[in-house]
Amino acid sequence: MRILGIETSCDETGIAIYDEKKGLVANQLYSQIDLHADYGGVVPELASRDHIRKTIPLIISALEEAKLTSKDIDGIAYTCGPGLVGALLVGSTIARALAYAWNIPAIGVHHMEGHLLAPMLEDNKPQFPFVALLISGGHTQLVRVDGIGKYQVLGESIDDAAGEAFDKTAKLLGLDYPGGAALSRLAEKGQANRFIFPRPMTDRPGLDFSFSGLKTFAANTINQAIKDEKILSEQTRADIAYAFQQAVVETIVIKCRRALKETSFNRLVIAGGVSANKQLRQSLGELMTQLKGEVFYPQTQFCTDNGAMIAYTGFIRLKNGETSPLALEVKPRWAMTELNSIT
Ligand code: KG4
Ligand code: ZN
Repeated sequence: MRILGIETSCDETGIAIYDEKKGLVANQLYSQIDLHADYGGVVPELASRDHIRKTIPLIISALEEAKLTSKDIDGIAYTCGPGLVGALLVGSTIARALAYAWNIPAIGVHHMEGHLLAPMLEDNKPQFPFVALLISGGHTQLVRVDGIGKYQVLGESIDDAAGEAFDKTAKLLGLDYPGGAALSRLAEKGQANRFIFPRPMTDRPGLDFSFSGLKTFAANTINQAIKDEKILSEQTRADIAYAFQQAVVETIVIKCRRALKETSFNRLVIAGGVSANKQLRQSLGELMTQLKGEVFYPQTQFCTDNGAMIAYTGFIRLKNGETSPLALEVKPRWAMTELNSIT
């Protein structure tokens, strides 16, 4: 079975082909980052228009990369939520139209299930059950995973997602959108203990997160530093980036430790754009060594949005006999707990 995967939920057009026997045989990605950078965030209408331009050429490139033709494709997987409605409609419409023309089944995939299953593309795959930490620009969730589709959300952000907090703080520090990775690079030059940020919601029980206060704390710290220094020095910017990142990472580590204790699981899966963060990987690695457990990540290129995770998730669900009806439905908001479980 060979599945074509189409991801267009936000600002990346991702196209991939997953082959049941060979694994991933094509992976194409076009990032719209430059298109949105001038606006400091994703402009939904521009995103949709660009997906229209890029999706079909990338599908052609993916077929060429895998040395396949449309006749070799047995099913299509497309992201149908959650995400930007216009962007989702582009990928879903193209997917449904191709499936109709090629007379093959198609399935709408949940974007966050795609992130969650991305580590399954690696040689060292996590066994069920495990705790998954999904951290992207739109979501921060701790999920108990007992199998495919057997998801229980243990905690989530009550305001900004971790990636959103990274991006907003990066913007305050004068970094381009999306600034998560750039903030992390800046933090490498920062010194510890000059600024101390709070660890939100760690002094009470529970597994929910709140990151919007950190952004406000960063804004106040920057304003005070400007008053003190007149012009924000490079070192001060780096020190603030360091303190912010350390607060996010430590908060996440505390919550992961709690989630693992609560479930008595010893495997942790981290996925979504922020899982590319080096400091977070190091700290969670140390946590899992302490707990004598194991941590699993997708490779860096599959941490952020991509077509591979959608092709793989669609493969699992199509193989299970699931398909989506021809009548198009996108779900900009969609809880992962509504998904069918596979026994
Ligand atoms: O999963 P993703 O590509 O898109 C969403 O579904 O949201 O995640 C993008 C997010 C952005 O907020 C970006 O700044 C953040 O992931 N990100 C990082 C790093 N690389 C990407 N945040 C912190 N450190 C990084 N190295
Ligand atoms: Zn994503």
